[in-house]
Amino acid sequence: MIVDNKWKELGYVNEPIPEGTDIKAEIRRMCKEKNAVIMAHYYTDGEIQDIADFIGDSLALAQKAAKTEADIIVMCGVHFMGETNKILCPDKVVLVPDLNATCSLAESCPAKEFGDFVKAHPDYTVVSYVNTTAATKALTDVVVTSSNARQIVESFPQDEKIIFGPDQNLGNYINSITGRNMLLWNGACHVHEKFSLEKILQLKAEHPKAKILVHPECKGAVVKVADKVGSTAALLKFSISDEATEFIVATESGILHEMQKACPDKTFIPAPPEDSTCACNECNFMKLITMQKLYNCLKYEWPTVEVDKDIAEKAVKPINKMLEISEKLGI
Ligand code: 13P
Ligand code: SF4
Repeated sequence: MIVDNKWKELGYVNEPIPEGTDIKAEIRRMCKEKNAVIMAHYYTDGEIQDIADFIGDSLALAQKAAKTEADIIVMCGVHFMGETNKILCPDKVVLVPDLNATCSLAESCPAKEFGDFVKAHPDYTVVSYVNTTAATKALTDVVVTSSNARQIVESFPQDEKIIFGPDQNLGNYINSITGRNMLLWNGACHVHEKFSLEKILQLKAEHPKAKILVHPECKGAVVKVADKVGSTAALLKFSISDEATEFIVATESGILHEMQKACPDKTFIPAPPEDSTCACNECNFMKLITMQKLYNCLKYEWPTVEVDKDIAEKAVKPINKMLEISEKLGI
């Protein structure tokens, strides 16, 4: 189907869905007809997670993409996740329903500046968080996610000189638990930086039995009060297996959907951001993915994610290295 130039400028297809359409049934029908698989991150809206074939954290999404037999991967998440899929599956069509779904962490580490930093430290091994563009990954020795960063850093000798980018908060956390002294890039996630320690402690005072779940992209002061620090998948797993029945959740609030579904009898309280009256802290980029955009992107098989061939050839190595180490360690 031809995509109008006006949609190309927008970065997504904004065509109204015909009245009376059973959107969910149509999405599933198109998936079957086109041999497409829908993957979704835990931060997307609940209805997107519910219609997906697979939901996961960044590591699980990459692992799943590497093994899929589908012809089309629809990545309901942010652009770097689509890029990772495209790099791993160059012969498949990879779609992200809205090209405006970027990531503040990835944007905080432009390849040009990061390349200059790497060049200035030629004897350093470069470890990059998966929340980076393909061009930044191409400058990297090994990619990590919050699920495997600790183990991958620990797989290097204790005295290995390491550059870690772009998330300074995750880097500081990994330094603190591994006793390393990695050189950190000064990047951050605009969502996780906003969690307020004061408001979390206030919630804890109101719910003294609640356990505090924290993503390592949060500031050190918030990480310090956590009962569990981990990736979205690790926090979900903890909430299922732990005996506590109340949890204060300091990560993007989309994860509460799956937590509540998995544990209908437990209470999940979203930790609020510091500078607003909202109860939840949302990633505006993840929330750009809507059912209408998902429907249209399957219909038009657009927007596709494309990665420059030379960049992809370089970026696939550190991604594969991450997948190999993770498989060896059973992560
Ligand atoms: P996870 O890998 O823990 O799902 O995190 C992805 C992310 O973007 C966190 O902000
Ligand atoms: Fe990026 Fe932060 Fe959104 Fe995660 S929550 S995708 S790190 S902007």
